[in-house]
Amino acid sequence: MKRILWGGATAASQYEGGFYDGKGMDTQDCRRWIPRLSNDTIQTRLLTEADIRNAKNSRSDDCRFPFRMGSRGYEYWESDLHYITSLGLDVYRLSISWARLFPTGFEDQPNPEGVMYYDRIIRTLAHAGIKVFITINHYAMPIAIVDKYGGWRHRDVIDLYLKMAKFVVDRWQENVDYWLPVNEINSGYFSPYNGLGIIGTIDYSYDYRSIFNGLHYQMIASALITKYGRDIGARGKFVCMVSCFDYYALHPTPEDNMKLVHDEQINQWWCADVLATGEYGYYTEKFLADHGVVLDITDKDRGILRSNTCDIVSFSYYSSSICSVDEKREQVPGNLVPTLRNASLEATEWGWQIDPMGLRITAHKVYDRYRKPIMVAENGLGARDNVDSDGRIHDNYRISYLERHMEQAELAVREGVDIEAYFVWGIIDIVSAGSCEMEKRYGVVYVDADNEGRGTYKRLPKDSFYWYRDFIASHR
Ligand code: BG6
Repeated sequence: MKRILWGGATAASQYEGGFYDGKGMDTQDCRRWIPRLSNDTIQTRLLTEADIRNAKNSRSDDCRFPFRMGSRGYEYWESDLHYITSLGLDVYRLSISWARLFPTGFEDQPNPEGVMYYDRIIRTLAHAGIKVFITINHYAMPIAIVDKYGGWRHRDVIDLYLKMAKFVVDRWQENVDYWLPVNEINSGYFSPYNGLGIIGTIDYSYDYRSIFNGLHYQMIASALITKYGRDIGARGKFVCMVSCFDYYALHPTPEDNMKLVHDEQINQWWCADVLATGEYGYYTEKFLADHGVVLDITDKDRGILRSNTCDIVSFSYYSSSICSVDEKREQVPGNLVPTLRNASLEATEWGWQIDPMGLRITAHKVYDRYRKPIMVAENGLGARDNVDSDGRIHDNYRISYLERHMEQAELAVREGVDIEAYFVWGIIDIVSAGSCEMEKRYGVVYVDADNEGRGTYKRLPKDSFYWYRDFIASHR
């Protein structure tokens, strides 16, 4: 039986900080933590031009902008890699900060300090025998591109992305095992600012035309960097990624089940269908027409998508969702999209419903649909941790969450699903992408900092660290 590679993952904007050494301002650097705003608020969806103006006028070390600090990984990378190696991870997933390499996105040459930063990390991982998974772009783009083009609204952004991505693939091709062109590509639909750098209007109106064309340009960019990597003989495999929500129908009625089919198509499969099969799903035409979207797609685009599909399909999974035509039901938060409450499930403090078997159901569905190896690119528990009187963090809740989800991943493999790797999200505590909080922690390594950037930023392994280390060792 194939062995799952056990991994851990972080993203540059949530982890690095280091808003200096030549790094440019990016979209995440403009986001403020606002107390008591939950995930499904406008904070995660759209920022306005006024928000961006205020961010630009603030001091670079203003603690109200938590992504400027991250977990201070830009300084702590060496000791963090020590934790990564001590854990015995098979594979580590990290992302490249676009604005650290190309501060505005328009430079011809990359920032040498930025290149050196990733040189060291990638070299250290390769030297330690840990496979390297690079997310070329995870949520953050240089703010100068937003100023000029309105984020991914414009086709020219494909070339700016490709300049950065080609540099990344050229430079690190010998040491990288997996390339992911864009994190959770379907997230641009739910969170246009994070996913596509699209700024909102003052009434936060939802601009389907920009969003679906932006997603299309991102998919063309993904296919073109895949082509480039293959043309130059880069050794890494190319991965696509979507966020999955594992929908259940609330009632066993045809209506709720029909809604389930539509929700899965638009929320979950849309982009994976394009990147894994090279074709837009049959359902897209009607959806686009219903929302008045004319897609800027050419015959050449269709050829690019068809000839450069991904090798591996990956997904993030945190909780399952319920759908129903009954709109009066109570809604609860989830990753990226709110859902209906499932009375049979417990939930995290942030209201995300915990459903380990949902991971196995999703793994089957993804594998069955695409028949390519799959990866669980993100899974984990966002929780508050406290340092106990004995100076340790007893996060049994996290161990229990991870253990139950990993068990389901292994069961899926036994049932024939080809799972290449599983990644614990935010393996070292990082700032939450949804709610901008440091105190919503996923890591097995604690970072001593709070939501307002106070703390020493020192690292402390949690009980889950020792548990994961032993789990990996016993699964070799
Ligand atoms: C995924 C993102 O959607 O969910 C991550 O790829 C994010 O960047 C993760 O951190 C968990 O969400 P949150 O909002 O708890 O950080």
